[in-house]
Formats: sequence, C-alpha cells, structure tokens
Amino acid sequence: MFLLGTQRINERGRLEIGGCDTVELAAEFGTPLYVMDEAALRATCRAYRAAFESRYPSVQVEYAAKAFLCVAMAQLVHDEGLHLDVASAGELYTGLRAGLPPADLVFHGNNKSLDELRLAVESGVGRIVVDNFHELDLLDQLAPLQRRPQDVLVRIAPGVDPHTHRRIRTGQADTKFGFGVKSGDALEAVKRIVGTPNLLFTGLHCHIGSNLMDAGAHRAAIDVLLDLAAEIRDETGLMVEQLNIGGGLGIRYTPQDRPMALEEFSEALTTALHDGLAARHLPLPLLLLEPGRSIVGEAGTTLYTVGAIKQVLIPEAPGRRTYVAIDGGLSDNPRPQLYEAVYTALIASRAGEHAGTEVRVAGKHCETDTLIDSTYIQRPEPGDIMAVLSTGAYNYSMASNYNRLPRPAVVFVKEGHSRLVVKRETLDDLLRQDLPLEK
Ligand code: LLP
Repeated sequence: MFLLGTQRINERGRLEIGGCDTVELAAEFGTPLYVMDEAALRATCRAYRAAFESRYPSVQVEYAAKAFLCVAMAQLVHDEGLHLDVASAGELYTGLRAGLPPADLVFHGNNKSLDELRLAVESGVGRIVVDNFHELDLLDQLAPLQRRPQDVLVRIAPGVDPHTHRRIRTGQADTKFGFGVKSGDALEAVKRIVGTPNLLFTGLHCHIGSNLMDAGAHRAAIDVLLDLAAEIRDETGLMVEQLNIGGGLGIRYTPQDRPMALEEFSEALTTALHDGLAARHLPLPLLLLEPGRSIVGEAGTTLYTVGAIKQVLIPEAPGRRTYVAIDGGLSDNPRPQLYEAVYTALIASRAGEHAGTEVRVAGKHCETDTLIDSTYIQRPEPGDIMAVLSTGAYNYSMASNYNRLPRPAVVFVKEGHSRLVVKRETLDDLLRQDLPLEK
C-alpha cells in the first residue's frame, strides 16, 4: 500500500494522518478538506536543510510560496529556518502579515507591477529577482523611496530544456522568463545594475522547470550560471555572491514515480557546483534553493465524500466502467486537466480492505472533470470518505470557485491534534464581492 509521511491504517481499518482518523476529520471539518501532515512537512524542511548544509558551507533554502501558502504555512517554514519566495503582492503580503522578517522574503515574477515593486521596496524585502529591462526601469522610479540599496539577483534563461510537462518548463531558450545568456542580455542587465546606485547586484538566479525526476537539467543550468559568473568577473571584476538554482525536484504521486532522493539530489547539485567553481577559479557563493512541490506536495491529502456511483456501458473491453463521483474536483485540484497529472486514491473509511475495484474518479463540475482516469480502490459506497494523496502542492493554491463551489478548508494535523488553518468558504463568502444592479 502507498502511504506517505505519518499516514497509516489504524485499528478501525481507516486512514490516519498525523495521528488523526481521517473519517473523523471529515466529520468535524466537512469535505472536500485539505489535510496537511505537519510532522512530515517539518521533517522535509529539516531534511532539505540538512542535505544541503552538510555538503556546502553556506546555504539558504527559500520555500516557494506558490506551491501552497497561508499564514500558518508561512509561519511554519519560518519556524524551520526557511526563507519565503513570493511571486505577487498577495504572496508578499501574506508573508508580511504572517510576521516574517521582510529580509527573509525574495520577490519573483516576470511582470511585477510598479505597485508590487513599491510594496516590496518599502517593506524592505531581502532580495528582488529581476526578470527584464522594464523591471529595471520601474526600480529606477522607486529609488527615492529607498533608504538603502536594494539587493537584486538577475534571473537568467539558461537555455536548458528539462524533461517535464510542457506547461511547467521554464528554463528553455524560448521562454518568457529571465534574461537570455547567449543574446548578451544577462550580462547587460548586470552592467546596468552596477551602474544604478539604488541597486546592489548580488547574484544570479534560474529556475528550469518543475516536477523533475533527476538532477540532469539542474547540473546543466549550473554550468550555464557559472560560465556567466566567470564572464561577469572577467568583464566587470564583480563576484557573484549568491547563486539561486530554483526549485523543481519532483515527488511521488503514485507508487511508480521515482524522483531522486533528497540526499542524491543535493549530492549531485553540490558536486556540480564545487567542481564547476573550482574549474573556473570562482569563490563559493551563497547557494539559494527554492523548492515548492518537494517541500509540501506529499504532505497534503484531500478528503472527499463519495456520492453517486454509476456503472456505464462502454464500447471497449471490459464493456463497463464504474464512475465514482466525489464532492469536489476541478475547483480544488485542476492539475489533472492542466497537466494530465495522475493521482493515487483510496477509500479512507475502509483503507484496510483489498483495493480490488477499478474505478474512474469523477468530479462534480459541469464538465468532464476526471480526477483520476483509472485506479483500483476498495469497493466504494456512497458516503465513504475518499482520500487522494500528494495534493499538498499546487492544489489549494490553484483552487477556484468554478460553479460557485466554496473553497475547502485546510487543517494541519500532528500527534493526534488537528488545527484549522484556513476556514472553509461559505456561500456568503461567494457573494462578498458581488454588487446588485441598482433598481
Ligand atoms: N522558483 C521559481 C522561480 C518558480 O517559478 C517555481 C515554480 C519554483 C521556484 C518552485 O518549483 P517547484 O519546486 O515547486 O517545482 N502549477 C504547476 C507548477 C508550476 C511551477 C511554477 N514555478 C503544477 O501544478 O505542477
């Protein structure tokens, strides 16, 4: 059986997470419900730090907020000594309101607005990762607001094409992200920053793609980053003090997925870095990492209630299909439709029973929002609680109100206790921004 983190089957034959019975969680908080395994989450934060800090002298892990963010999550990563990568005013504001030191925030984005940059500069974010020349113009306009020069990193497009779904690649040459290296834009951006008194060039950044199973593309990107670092040194005499290699490590959505283990991944990256720096006679920069999915993905489970179950006659063998409809779908997890993502499910109420029934898991939206195309689960009955695993990353953060479904609640579970960290939206929440026509 495929169980992750603290998940286990308890004496009642039910799925338990963080010492909490999932059927009881569903009864208390309702469904759909995002359940976050707090112990697993904290353990992963620590494992990330340990894996890199034991192999490289100066490391800072920045959690990529886009994967999953709420006030409690920002506080948790801060507790664990991670910084926060934010990519919009909303993520930035959440980090600030969660009480994080502004210096721990790193501001990203390929089209930051003047207002967003103003918020970042005024609140004193630690680093801004500059993506394009227009952004440099906007930062010029903000110079009068600054009390000290702003640390900036230059995002580059390393021209590395990772093996992942086309919609989550970012490092290839044909991309909207960052400055091209071959074109000379990256070097020009560095020179322009050096000539701007309110900006302090601190280093380079790249992010090549997401849900990558090995470190091949990262290694190739490190090569490109270090070539550029050597060129910057030769052309300007400046040292790249910080090197941000982005996020990207994949997770297990199904038992067939075999992402590189963290220890191997950190070994591959730090070896490439040590070797590449030595070959170019470059000093060791601060290594920055920006994992999102691999911090939070496996720690999340979505609980649903099973509703309608249908036997449908189909032309292909075996001639019939069992459709199991759950009380969520596209709105709480758009990833199957967007990226053909495949998930693992089980009947949490009878998790100890044999998973011998082949089903298609369907959502409740007014279109064909198949959540899982085909999977084997325990024989389902209306009213059962279904658990879908590895939904911690890019599920809550990409949730919508399609069909005016209220967004689910989020609970953190740990050692038999549950803590509500995001309330379920109510029907009135859905109307909160609506204004009636004047009569
Ligand atoms: N840093 C930057 C600049 C990024 O753009 C991203 C992800 C990360 C870090 C974190 O990457 P991770 O460790 O999570 O792979 N919505 C898609 C994923 C989009 C990723 C976007 N950028 C999905 O659901 O698969």
